[in-house]
Amino acid sequence: MLPLVRGKVDRMSCSRSTDLAELAGARSISVAEVPVAENEPLARDTYRLRIYHPPMARRFLPGQFLMLRLADCDDPLIGRAFALYDTVLDERGEPCGVDVVYLVKGKLTRRLARTPVGQRVLVWGPLGNSFPPIAVDEVVMVAGGIGQTPFLAWARELAGQRMFGEPPRRVPVVPRRLLLYGTRTADLLAGLEAFAQAGLEVQLATEDGSRGHAGRVTELLEKILQCGKRPAVVACGPDPMLAAVAQLCFQYEVPCWVSLETPMACGIGICFSCVARVRQDGDWDYRRTCVEGPVFDARCLVW
Ligand SMILES: Cc1cc2nc3c(=O)[nH]c(=O)nc-3n(C[C@H](O)[C@H](O)[C@H](O)COP(=O)(O)OP(=O)(O)OC[C@H]3O[C@@H](n4cnc5c(N)ncnc54)[C@H](O)[C@@H]3O)c2cc1C
Ligand code: FES
Repeated sequence: MLPLVRGKVDRMSCSRSTDLAELAGARSISVAEVPVAENEPLARDTYRLRIYHPPMARRFLPGQFLMLRLADCDDPLIGRAFALYDTVLDERGEPCGVDVVYLVKGKLTRRLARTPVGQRVLVWGPLGNSFPPIAVDEVVMVAGGIGQTPFLAWARELAGQRMFGEPPRRVPVVPRRLLLYGTRTADLLAGLEAFAQAGLEVQLATEDGSRGHAGRVTELLEKILQCGKRPAVVACGPDPMLAAVAQLCFQYEVPCWVSLETPMACGIGICFSCVARVRQDGDWDYRRTCVEGPVFDARCLVW
Protein backbone atom coordinates (compact mmCIF):
# COMPACT_ATOMS: atom_id res chain seq x y z
CA MET A 1 0.00 0.00 0.00
CA LEU A 2 1.28 3.47 -0.81
CA PRO A 3 2.34 5.69 2.06
CA LEU A 4 -0.47 8.20 1.80
CA VAL A 5 0.71 11.26 3.62
CA ARG A 6 -1.83 13.65 5.02
CA GLY A 7 0.42 16.58 4.41
CA LYS A 8 0.94 19.90 2.84
CA VAL A 9 2.62 20.55 -0.45
CA ASP A 10 3.94 23.84 -1.68
CA ARG A 11 3.91 25.00 -5.28
CA MET A 12 7.34 25.84 -6.67
CA SER A 13 8.39 27.46 -9.93
CA CYS A 14 10.76 25.60 -12.22
CA SER A 15 13.61 27.97 -11.39
CA ARG A 16 13.65 27.28 -7.65
CA SER A 17 15.61 24.56 -5.95
CA THR A 18 13.76 21.45 -4.90
CA ASP A 19 14.00 20.64 -1.25
CA LEU A 20 11.78 18.25 0.62
CA ALA A 21 11.70 20.73 3.48
CA GLU A 22 9.57 22.90 1.22
CA LEU A 23 6.89 20.22 1.26
CA ALA A 24 5.80 21.67 4.57
CA GLY A 25 4.43 24.57 2.55
CA ALA A 26 1.12 26.24 2.45
CA ARG A 27 -1.39 24.07 0.58
CA SER A 28 -3.12 21.10 2.16
CA ILE A 29 -4.08 17.93 0.32
CA SER A 30 -7.28 16.01 0.94
CA VAL A 31 -6.98 12.23 1.11
CA ALA A 32 -10.34 10.47 0.93
CA GLU A 33 -12.05 7.20 0.15
CA VAL A 34 -15.22 8.14 -1.71
CA PRO A 35 -17.88 6.36 -3.77
CA VAL A 36 -17.97 6.88 -7.49
CA ALA A 37 -21.01 9.10 -8.05
CA GLU A 38 -21.08 8.95 -11.86
CA ASN A 39 -19.05 7.13 -14.49
CA GLU A 40 -20.51 8.15 -17.83
CA PRO A 41 -19.23 7.48 -21.35
CA LEU A 42 -18.32 10.68 -23.27
CA ALA A 43 -16.77 9.22 -26.42
CA ARG A 44 -15.16 5.99 -27.55
CA ASP A 45 -13.16 4.55 -24.61
CA THR A 46 -13.57 7.85 -22.79
CA TYR A 47 -15.49 8.36 -19.54
CA ARG A 48 -16.31 11.17 -17.13
CA LEU A 49 -15.96 10.08 -13.51
CA ARG A 50 -17.54 12.15 -10.73
CA ILE A 51 -16.79 12.09 -7.02
CA TYR A 52 -18.17 14.30 -4.26
CA HIS A 53 -15.71 15.82 -1.80
CA PRO A 54 -16.46 19.49 -1.03
CA PRO A 55 -13.15 20.41 0.69
CA MET A 56 -11.16 19.04 -2.25
CA ALA A 57 -13.49 20.58 -4.84
CA ARG A 58 -13.28 24.02 -3.20
CA ARG A 59 -9.48 24.09 -3.38
CA PHE A 60 -9.00 22.85 -6.95
CA LEU A 61 -7.44 25.21 -9.49
CA PRO A 62 -7.49 24.59 -13.25
CA GLY A 63 -4.34 22.71 -14.30
CA GLN A 64 -4.10 20.79 -11.03
CA PHE A 65 -4.73 17.06 -10.77
CA LEU A 66 -5.64 14.34 -8.33
CA MET A 67 -4.27 10.84 -7.84
CA LEU A 68 -6.77 7.98 -7.90
CA ARG A 69 -6.64 4.26 -7.13
CA LEU A 70 -9.27 1.63 -6.48
CA ALA A 71 -10.02 1.39 -2.74
CA ASP A 72 -10.56 -2.36 -2.48
CA CYS A 73 -8.02 -3.58 -5.00
CA ASP A 74 -4.22 -3.49 -5.03
CA ASP A 75 -3.94 -4.12 -8.76
CA PRO A 76 -2.70 -1.72 -9.89
CA LEU A 77 -0.93 -0.86 -6.66
CA ILE A 78 0.05 2.63 -7.69
CA GLY A 79 -2.47 5.41 -8.24
CA ARG A 80 -2.75 7.30 -11.51
CA ALA A 81 -2.93 11.05 -12.08
CA PHE A 82 -6.03 12.69 -13.58
CA ALA A 83 -6.41 16.35 -14.39
CA LEU A 84 -9.28 18.39 -13.00
CA TYR A 85 -11.89 18.43 -15.79
CA ASP A 86 -14.46 20.48 -13.91
CA THR A 87 -15.83 21.09 -10.45
CA VAL A 88 -19.45 20.30 -9.65
CA LEU A 89 -21.49 23.00 -7.89
CA ASP A 90 -24.16 22.44 -5.24
CA GLU A 91 -27.50 24.27 -5.12
CA ARG A 92 -25.80 27.31 -3.51
CA GLY A 93 -23.20 27.46 -6.27
CA GLU A 94 -20.44 26.10 -4.02
CA PRO A 95 -18.00 23.50 -5.38
CA CYS A 96 -18.92 20.09 -3.95
CA GLY A 97 -17.58 17.56 -6.44
CA VAL A 98 -14.86 16.90 -8.95
CA ASP A 99 -15.08 15.49 -12.48
CA VAL A 100 -12.17 13.82 -14.22
CA VAL A 101 -12.23 12.40 -17.74
CA TYR A 102 -10.18 9.34 -18.61
CA LEU A 103 -9.25 7.39 -21.71
CA VAL A 104 -9.13 3.62 -21.34
CA LYS A 105 -5.49 2.78 -21.84
CA GLY A 106 -4.04 0.24 -19.40
CA LYS A 107 -4.53 -1.40 -16.03
CA LEU A 108 -6.33 1.20 -13.97
CA THR A 109 -8.43 2.80 -16.65
CA ARG A 110 -9.63 -0.61 -17.92
CA ARG A 111 -10.84 -1.39 -14.41
CA LEU A 112 -12.29 2.10 -13.93
CA ALA A 113 -14.42 1.71 -17.03
CA ARG A 114 -16.05 -1.33 -15.36
CA THR A 115 -16.43 0.38 -11.97
CA PRO A 116 -20.09 0.79 -11.00
CA VAL A 117 -21.52 3.83 -9.27
CA GLY A 118 -21.12 3.39 -5.51
CA GLN A 119 -17.81 1.52 -5.65
CA ARG A 120 -15.16 3.30 -3.61
CA VAL A 121 -12.00 4.92 -4.92
CA LEU A 122 -9.11 6.47 -3.02
CA VAL A 123 -8.27 9.99 -4.16
CA TRP A 124 -5.73 12.54 -3.03
CA GLY A 125 -5.54 16.11 -4.24
CA PRO A 126 -5.55 18.81 -5.39
CA LEU A 127 -1.95 18.33 -6.52
CA GLY A 128 0.60 20.22 -8.56
CA ASN A 129 0.68 23.82 -9.67
CA SER A 130 -1.98 25.30 -11.94
CA PHE A 131 -2.33 27.26 -15.14
CA PRO A 132 -0.86 30.70 -14.58
CA PRO A 133 -3.17 33.72 -14.52
CA ILE A 134 -2.21 35.58 -17.71
CA ALA A 135 -3.24 39.03 -18.87
CA VAL A 136 -3.41 38.64 -22.66
CA ASP A 137 -5.94 39.25 -25.44
CA GLU A 138 -5.91 35.70 -26.73
CA VAL A 139 -5.11 32.25 -25.38
CA VAL A 140 -4.76 29.24 -27.65
CA MET A 141 -5.10 25.88 -25.91
CA VAL A 142 -3.64 22.98 -27.87
CA ALA A 143 -4.87 19.52 -26.90
CA GLY A 144 -3.74 16.18 -28.28
CA GLY A 145 -5.61 12.96 -27.47
CA ILE A 146 -6.82 12.93 -23.87
CA GLY A 147 -4.83 16.16 -23.32
CA GLN A 148 -8.05 18.20 -23.59
CA THR A 149 -9.03 17.37 -20.00
CA PRO A 150 -7.34 20.26 -18.13
CA PHE A 151 -8.76 22.93 -20.42
CA LEU A 152 -12.48 22.95 -19.58
CA ALA A 153 -12.13 24.38 -16.07
CA TRP A 154 -9.50 26.86 -17.24
CA ALA A 155 -11.72 28.00 -20.12
CA ARG A 156 -14.52 28.70 -17.63
CA GLU A 157 -12.11 30.66 -15.45
CA LEU A 158 -10.67 32.73 -18.33
CA ALA A 159 -14.21 33.49 -19.56
CA GLY A 160 -15.18 34.81 -16.12
CA GLN A 161 -17.83 32.06 -15.81
CA ARG A 162 -16.38 30.49 -12.70
CA MET A 163 -13.83 31.16 -9.96
CA PHE A 164 -11.68 28.38 -8.55
CA GLY A 165 -9.61 27.86 -5.41
CA GLU A 166 -9.95 28.72 -1.77
CA PRO A 167 -10.18 31.65 -1.42
CA PRO A 168 -11.52 31.89 -4.99
CA ARG A 169 -8.78 33.33 -7.21
CA ARG A 170 -9.62 36.23 -9.49
CA VAL A 171 -7.87 36.08 -12.87
CA PRO A 172 -8.01 38.54 -15.78
CA VAL A 173 -10.72 37.68 -18.30
CA VAL A 174 -9.13 36.74 -21.64
CA PRO A 175 -11.36 38.06 -24.47
CA ARG A 176 -10.43 35.45 -27.11
CA ARG A 177 -10.11 31.79 -26.16
CA LEU A 178 -9.48 29.12 -28.75
CA LEU A 179 -9.11 25.36 -28.32
CA LEU A 180 -7.24 23.41 -30.99
CA TYR A 181 -8.15 19.79 -30.34
CA GLY A 182 -6.72 16.84 -32.20
CA THR A 183 -7.30 13.10 -31.95
CA ARG A 184 -6.55 10.11 -34.15
CA THR A 185 -10.17 9.78 -35.26
CA ALA A 186 -13.52 11.55 -34.74
CA ASP A 187 -15.11 9.14 -32.27
CA LEU A 188 -12.37 9.90 -29.73
CA LEU A 189 -13.35 13.59 -29.56
CA ALA A 190 -14.86 14.09 -26.08
CA GLY A 191 -16.62 16.98 -24.36
CA LEU A 192 -17.19 19.23 -27.39
CA GLU A 193 -20.52 20.49 -26.05
CA ALA A 194 -18.99 21.38 -22.69
CA PHE A 195 -16.14 23.27 -24.35
CA ALA A 196 -18.61 25.30 -26.41
CA GLN A 197 -20.66 26.08 -23.27
CA ALA A 198 -17.44 27.28 -21.63
CA GLY A 199 -17.20 29.93 -24.34
CA LEU A 200 -14.35 28.36 -26.28
CA GLU A 201 -14.02 28.57 -30.03
CA VAL A 202 -13.00 25.04 -31.02
CA GLN A 203 -11.03 23.94 -34.08
CA LEU A 204 -10.70 20.19 -34.58
CA ALA A 205 -8.13 18.02 -36.27
CA THR A 206 -8.18 14.26 -36.81
CA GLU A 207 -5.29 12.28 -38.20
CA ASP A 208 -7.60 10.19 -40.41
CA GLY A 209 -9.58 13.23 -41.62
CA SER A 210 -12.88 11.96 -40.18
CA ARG A 211 -13.64 15.40 -38.64
CA GLY A 212 -12.11 18.86 -38.90
CA HIS A 213 -8.66 19.44 -40.35
CA ALA A 214 -7.13 16.24 -41.72
CA GLY A 215 -3.77 16.05 -40.05
CA ARG A 216 -2.07 17.07 -36.86
CA VAL A 217 -3.33 19.64 -34.41
CA THR A 218 0.06 21.39 -34.56
CA GLU A 219 -0.70 22.25 -38.20
CA LEU A 220 -3.70 24.30 -37.01
CA LEU A 221 -1.43 26.14 -34.57
CA GLU A 222 1.13 26.83 -37.28
CA LYS A 223 -1.55 28.35 -39.55
CA ILE A 224 -2.60 30.74 -36.77
CA LEU A 225 0.96 31.81 -36.04
CA GLN A 226 1.71 32.19 -39.76
CA CYS A 227 -1.22 34.67 -39.99
CA GLY A 228 0.67 36.96 -37.63
CA LYS A 229 -1.37 36.31 -34.47
CA ARG A 230 0.63 36.30 -31.26
CA PRO A 231 -1.50 34.57 -28.60
CA ALA A 232 -0.28 32.89 -25.43
CA VAL A 233 -0.18 29.15 -26.09
CA VAL A 234 -0.81 26.38 -23.58
CA ALA A 235 -0.57 22.73 -24.61
CA CYS A 236 -1.32 19.30 -23.15
CA GLY A 237 -0.86 15.96 -24.86
CA PRO A 238 1.77 13.41 -25.85
CA ASP A 239 5.40 14.52 -25.45
CA PRO A 240 6.19 14.67 -29.22
CA MET A 241 3.19 16.98 -29.71
CA LEU A 242 4.31 19.19 -26.83
CA ALA A 243 7.83 19.37 -28.29
CA ALA A 244 6.39 20.41 -31.67
CA VAL A 245 4.17 23.07 -30.06
CA ALA A 246 7.10 24.43 -28.04
CA GLN A 247 9.29 24.54 -31.15
CA LEU A 248 6.65 26.52 -33.08
CA CYS A 249 6.22 28.94 -30.20
CA PHE A 250 9.99 29.50 -29.96
CA GLN A 251 10.10 30.10 -33.72
CA TYR A 252 7.23 32.63 -33.67
CA GLU A 253 8.32 34.10 -30.32
CA VAL A 254 5.06 33.55 -28.47
CA PRO A 255 4.83 32.55 -24.82
CA CYS A 256 4.13 28.86 -24.28
CA TRP A 257 3.28 26.67 -21.31
CA VAL A 258 2.95 22.91 -21.41
CA SER A 259 1.16 20.55 -19.03
CA LEU A 260 3.15 17.32 -18.81
CA GLU A 261 1.57 13.87 -18.40
CA THR A 262 4.69 12.26 -16.95
CA PRO A 263 3.86 8.92 -15.31
CA MET A 264 3.68 9.36 -11.53
CA ALA A 265 3.66 7.12 -8.47
CA CYS A 266 3.01 9.19 -5.34
CA GLY A 267 1.88 12.56 -6.74
CA ILE A 268 3.10 14.38 -3.66
CA GLY A 269 6.82 14.87 -4.23
CA ILE A 270 8.26 11.90 -2.37
CA CYS A 271 9.20 9.17 -4.87
CA PHE A 272 10.90 11.20 -7.65
CA SER A 273 9.40 8.93 -10.32
CA CYS A 274 8.04 11.90 -12.25
CA VAL A 275 11.09 14.06 -12.89
CA ALA A 276 11.43 16.32 -15.92
CA ARG A 277 14.65 18.00 -17.07
CA VAL A 278 14.63 21.74 -16.48
CA ARG A 279 17.19 24.33 -17.57
CA GLN A 280 19.22 25.87 -14.79
CA ASP A 281 22.15 28.32 -14.98
CA GLY A 282 23.40 27.12 -18.38
CA ASP A 283 23.03 23.51 -17.26
CA TRP A 284 19.98 21.41 -16.33
CA ASP A 285 18.53 19.66 -13.32
CA TYR A 286 15.51 17.50 -12.53
CA ARG A 287 12.19 18.84 -11.23
CA ARG A 288 9.26 16.79 -9.99
CA THR A 289 6.32 17.12 -12.35
CA CYS A 290 3.89 16.43 -9.50
CA VAL A 291 5.08 19.37 -7.39
CA GLU A 292 6.84 21.93 -9.62
CA GLY A 293 4.50 20.97 -12.49
CA PRO A 294 2.60 19.62 -14.28
CA VAL A 295 2.46 23.07 -15.92
CA PHE A 296 5.85 24.40 -17.01
CA ASP A 297 6.96 27.38 -19.03
CA ALA A 298 8.16 25.65 -22.21
CA ARG A 299 11.40 27.67 -22.10
CA CYS A 300 12.29 26.08 -18.74
CA LEU A 301 12.30 22.53 -20.10
CA VAL A 302 15.08 20.63 -21.85
CA TRP A 303 13.41 19.36 -25.05
C1 LIG B 1 -0.66 15.37 -14.35
C2 LIG B 1 -1.31 14.27 -15.15
C3 LIG B 1 -2.61 14.38 -15.55
C4 LIG B 1 -3.23 13.36 -16.26
N1 LIG B 1 -4.52 13.53 -16.62
C5 LIG B 1 -5.14 12.53 -17.27
C6 LIG B 1 -6.51 12.69 -17.63
O1 LIG B 1 -7.14 13.71 -17.33
N2 LIG B 1 -7.11 11.65 -18.28
C7 LIG B 1 -6.42 10.48 -18.60
O2 LIG B 1 -7.02 9.58 -19.18
N3 LIG B 1 -5.13 10.32 -18.27
C8 LIG B 1 -4.49 11.31 -17.61
N4 LIG B 1 -3.17 11.14 -17.26
C9 LIG B 1 -2.53 9.84 -17.53
C10 LIG B 1 -2.98 8.86 -16.43
O3 LIG B 1 -2.37 9.21 -15.20
C11 LIG B 1 -2.59 7.41 -16.68
O4 LIG B 1 -1.23 7.33 -16.89
C12 LIG B 1 -3.28 6.78 -17.84
O5 LIG B 1 -4.67 6.86 -17.68
C13 LIG B 1 -2.90 5.29 -17.97
O6 LIG B 1 -3.23 4.59 -16.78
P1 LIG B 1 -3.53 3.03 -16.85
O7 LIG B 1 -3.31 2.43 -15.52
O8 LIG B 1 -4.83 2.81 -17.50
O9 LIG B 1 -2.42 2.50 -17.85
P2 LIG B 1 -0.99 1.78 -17.49
O10 LIG B 1 -1.36 0.32 -17.30
O11 LIG B 1 -0.36 2.47 -16.39
O12 LIG B 1 -0.21 2.04 -18.79
C14 LIG B 1 -0.64 1.76 -20.10
C15 LIG B 1 0.46 2.16 -21.07
O13 LIG B 1 0.59 3.58 -21.09
C16 LIG B 1 1.90 3.97 -20.66
N5 LIG B 1 1.69 5.11 -19.76
C17 LIG B 1 1.26 5.10 -18.51
N6 LIG B 1 1.15 6.36 -18.05
C18 LIG B 1 1.53 7.17 -19.07
C19 LIG B 1 1.64 8.58 -19.22
N7 LIG B 1 1.32 9.42 -18.24
N8 LIG B 1 2.07 9.05 -20.39
C20 LIG B 1 2.38 8.23 -21.40
N9 LIG B 1 2.30 6.89 -21.30
C21 LIG B 1 1.89 6.37 -20.17
C22 LIG B 1 2.49 2.78 -19.98
O14 LIG B 1 3.89 2.79 -20.13
C23 LIG B 1 1.82 1.64 -20.72
O15 LIG B 1 2.48 1.37 -21.91
C24 LIG B 1 -2.51 12.17 -16.58
C25 LIG B 1 -1.19 12.04 -16.17
C26 LIG B 1 -0.59 13.07 -15.46
C27 LIG B 1 0.82 12.92 -15.00
S1 FES C 1 5.11 11.25 -8.38
FE1 FES C 1 6.33 10.89 -6.63
S2 FES C 1 7.67 12.61 -6.63
FE2 FES C 1 6.32 13.01 -8.26
